[in-house]
Amino acid sequence: MNNLFELNEKFSMPGVVIFEKRTNNIIDLLVSNRYADARICLYGGQITSFRPINKPDILWMSSNSNFEVGKAIRGGIPICFPWFGPHKTDNKKPQHGFGRLMSWDLTETAVMPNGETLIRLQLRSSEATKLFWPYNFIAEIKVIIGKMLKATLKVTNTSSGHFEYTCALHTYYNISDIEAITIDGLGGASYYKHGEPGDFKQDSSLLEIHKSVDRHYHDTEAVCIISDSSFGRKIHVDKSGSKVTTVWNPWMEGSAKMNDMPDDAYKTFVCIEAVNSFDDTVNLKPGESHETSVIIGMEE
Ligand code: BG6
Repeated sequence: MNNLFELNEKFSMPGVVIFEKRTNNIIDLLVSNRYADARICLYGGQITSFRPINKPDILWMSSNSNFEVGKAIRGGIPICFPWFGPHKTDNKKPQHGFGRLMSWDLTETAVMPNGETLIRLQLRSSEATKLFWPYNFIAEIKVIIGKMLKATLKVTNTSSGHFEYTCALHTYYNISDIEAITIDGLGGASYYKHGEPGDFKQDSSLLEIHKSVDRHYHDTEAVCIISDSSFGRKIHVDKSGSKVTTVWNPWMEGSAKMNDMPDDAYKTFVCIEAVNSFDDTVNLKPGESHETSVIIGMEE
């Protein structure tokens, strides 16, 4: 359903959930409750804002992002599915899969007893998805907006045979200055560098970033903490169902090459992604499901 009138009729909740149309018929769902404000774009099923009351956004959004069918939204929490990174065998298929390039159906909006808001979106296999991937599946994004933001990607195999997929909750965090933050949680973890052979290890307990970074930490389920003294906050990044954590920042040259972010955008975001890929690919038999979640919150 992509009709503003029908969405309002069926899913709006006065004072809590409303809908807003962007250009190109792309519709956003806006949540407001006693804990936070949030914005979810039905295109891509992408959370683009999570702002605890009276605080700066925890998520970063590019001011130059496309909001156009066929193009990825730059910022928030892109859903990479059913593959993470480039397609293994066909470079004509979209980077990070088609999940972030399709409209997701809204299936539920609800207020929880504690005042948190629950939102569910679904993407089911169709002729359009089978152009890219031959399997039957149901993918669901469950979002809970409270003091914390909880986002879960649940994938169910509705095919008659087994399939495997890779995925990520590719979160962009809003920071004051990339060179002023530290990331705690990955000390001692091993990582692959994107596009480079070898296995590396982070010896220092804190990660500081002073150049482009594209690391896939493996065998880690650790909580990461982004300490941002200028913003006077620590962002807690917890996850479950994922053993790979990707840390990405394209730095100056990389930002300048991307026409959907300002040239100096790299200064104000860092991606810490909950990933299933490499040795943590998901294999599902018919009827089986897997859940990948992030739980994001703030400590002052
Ligand atoms: C990260 C990858 O997950 O996403 C990087 O590790 C990639 O290699 C980055 O550049 C952004 O990808 P995209 O397709 O959104 O530009």
